[in-house]
Amino acid sequence: MTGKIFIIGIGPGGKEYLTLKAIDTVKECDYTVGSTRAVELFENVKNTISFGVKDLVETLKKAVELAAEGNSVAILSTGDPGFSGVLNTVLRLSTKEGFPHDNIEVIPGISSLQLAAARNHIQWDGANVMTFHGRENIEDILDVIDNGKITIALPSRKVKDMAQFLLDNGVDANRRVTVCERLSYPDEKIVSTSLKNIATSEFTYMCIIIIESKN
Ligand SMILES: C[S@@+](CC[C@H](N)C(=O)[O-])C[C@H]1O[C@@H](n2cnc3c(N)ncnc32)[C@H](O)[C@@H]1O
Repeated sequence: MTGKIFIIGIGPGGKEYLTLKAIDTVKECDYTVGSTRAVELFENVKNTISFGVKDLVETLKKAVELAAEGNSVAILSTGDPGFSGVLNTVLRLSTKEGFPHDNIEVIPGISSLQLAAARNHIQWDGANVMTFHGRENIEDILDVIDNGKITIALPSRKVKDMAQFLLDNGVDANRRVTVCERLSYPDEKIVSTSLKNIATSEFTYMCIIIIESKN
C-alpha cells in the first residue's frame, strides 16, 4: 500500500504566517517531519521526527520510506518548499525509492523572500530574485547586479562576506542595501544602509538582502 507525502511550506517562522491548509494537513498526517522549530508551530502532531542540518537527507529518506509503507507523512519546509526548500531533495529521494510523484502534494507557504518584499513595499515581479543559500559560488550575482533591477537574494555565507565580495568586484560602496533579519520573529530587524556599512556589520544567518537597482 502506498501512502502520501505532503511537502508543506510553514512560512517565515511566525505562527501567524502559517496557512490553514498547513495546519489541517499536519493534524491529519500519521507522521510529521521537520526541524524542531518548524514542528513546534503545530498542535495535535501525531508522530514527530525532527531533523537538523546534518541528518536532513537521512531523515527525509526515512520520511519517504514511511510513506512507501502506507503512511501519510507531512514534511515541513521553511518559507515555501519550492524556493531554496526541500522540494527537489524529496522528489529525488522519492524517485530513488520508487515512490510515485503523483502521491506527493506540495502545499505552498509564504517565502521569507515574499515577506521581505512586502515589508519594503517592493513589487517583486520586477526584481532579480536569487538564492545563494548553501552555495559557495556567488559570482552570477555580478551578471545581474547592474541590470537596472532591484535584487532580492538569500545570501550564501555571512551577509558581510557577500557585501565584501560585491565591493571587491567594483559595486559602488554607497549602493543602498537592506538586510531583513529574522522576519516575523519578535526580534525582527530591518537595516537599510550603504554596501560598505553592511560589509562591516554582523548579522545572523537568517537574512534576506535587498540591493537597490543601479540607476
Ligand atoms: C534553507 S533556506 C529556506 C528558504 C525558504 N524556503 C523560503 O522560502 O523562505 C533558509 C534561508 O532562508 C532565509 N530565511 C528563512 N526564514 C527567514 C526569516 N524569517 N527571516 C529572514 N530570512 C529567512 C535565510 O536566508 C535562511 O538562511
